[in-house]
Amino acid sequence: MPESKIVTIGSQKGGVGKTTVVLNLGIGLGRMGWKVLLVDGDPQGGLGISCSRAKYHGPGLIEILMGKADKSQAVQELSDSIALCRIGSKAPNEILVYEKKAINGNLGRLIRDIASDFDCALVDTPAGTGTVTRAFLEISDRVVPVINCLAGTVRSMPRFIALTDWVKEKINPDLRLGGVVINMFNEKDPSEERICKYLQSRLHKDFFYNTIIPRDKAFDTAHTRAMPVSLLPEGKGASRHFEALAEEFIRRDAAMARTSPGTHATTTSAMHDEIKATDSSQAFQADPFEGLLSSICCQAGFNALVLADAMGFPISGHNSPTYVDEMAAFAPVLGDSLEKARAILGLDQAESIVLEASGGERLALRMFKMQEETYYLLARCQPGLDAESELELAVEKIKAVLS
Ligand SMILES: Nc1ncnc2c1ncn2[C@@H]1O[C@H](COP(=O)(O)OP(=O)(O)O)[C@@H](O)[C@H]1O
Ligand SMILES: [Mg+2]
Repeated sequence: MPESKIVTIGSQKGGVGKTTVVLNLGIGLGRMGWKVLLVDGDPQGGLGISCSRAKYHGPGLIEILMGKADKSQAVQELSDSIALCRIGSKAPNEILVYEKKAINGNLGRLIRDIASDFDCALVDTPAGTGTVTRAFLEISDRVVPVINCLAGTVRSMPRFIALTDWVKEKINPDLRLGGVVINMFNEKDPSEERICKYLQSRLHKDFFYNTIIPRDKAFDTAHTRAMPVSLLPEGKGASRHFEALAEEFIRRDAAMARTSPGTHATTTSAMHDEIKATDSSQAFQADPFEGLLSSICCQAGFNALVLADAMGFPISGHNSPTYVDEMAAFAPVLGDSLEKARAILGLDQAESIVLEASGGERLALRMFKMQEETYYLLARCQPGLDAESELELAVEKIKAVLS
């Protein structure tokens, strides 16, 4: 009998593959002998549509919560091992009731009750950290966040993890991180490859499932036909990855069952400190560079200055955070150009790049390394400034703090 009963699949961003993971991981677990309930917890009803158009219509969670149906009407068998619990009503006012029932705890209690007939319930959630997702986390044994390797998704991940930590600390101490699923991975895209390696190097090895789900058109075809990818002739490769994920899920689940929630290395809290390093909003809170960057700006005549890591996550910045975020995102792009220019022109020593910006301002970037790590320092320079020498001086001051 599996230890984990209720698993929330969530993400800060939409379109990263939550619904796809719920459906295909569920099928994978079913094949391994588990009796699985797929819960369509997202008012968009994406899960119901993806697994069966025929069974999509009919009463669901919303009707049960409104006293108009009972659970036998909302739960439908899809196969011997898999059942679907529909979301139900699409009426905006009734969706509002659903959200209210999430806040008052009735939704959580209902899911617990329905899940008790199964070995495991995988709950599909709306994107973000709203009340519905929170209600599921409050009654879950595991959380499985889904991401892809695009910068915007990765940057948003700490917000979702922060919610899971908060729920674990304040409401549900049994909640544990199953693992983050990396989905839609395109290994031929150098930027995705770099982001993936970066994440794996920065975070605890158990933070991600080892099984990475590649980008595969078969998922879209399956989505269009409202059937699991495993039933498509061209979907065999895609479904093998989910079988591997299901095996890994079960293996980890068994390992976690042998440790208490507080001690296992993959509790979300244990991860949080490491993740903070990638969270730009957190980086602005305790910032050892703040004073230094503002004094460099004053002395050198920079209008703004950003220190970013190899991925462009801002470590620190002087001037407004939004401005800093935009500039930080720009830093690795310029850094790439710099590396290419070095290769093409044989400029081994080139470490900076200066661009003319509007109003006589210039944008100057300097790339530097410290203990094998790459950093970028990007400045908006006032007209007439010797940008390169000023940046070089600034790098020396920053290196002194970094070392
Ligand atoms: N690994 C993948 N490769 C290619 N397309 C995918 C993959 N995973 C999901 N998709 C497609 O991406 C779209 C969004 O996925 P979905 O599961 O609905 O995301 P979410 O539930 O997070 O909004 C769907 O059209 C789905 O078929
Ligand atoms: Mg979805």
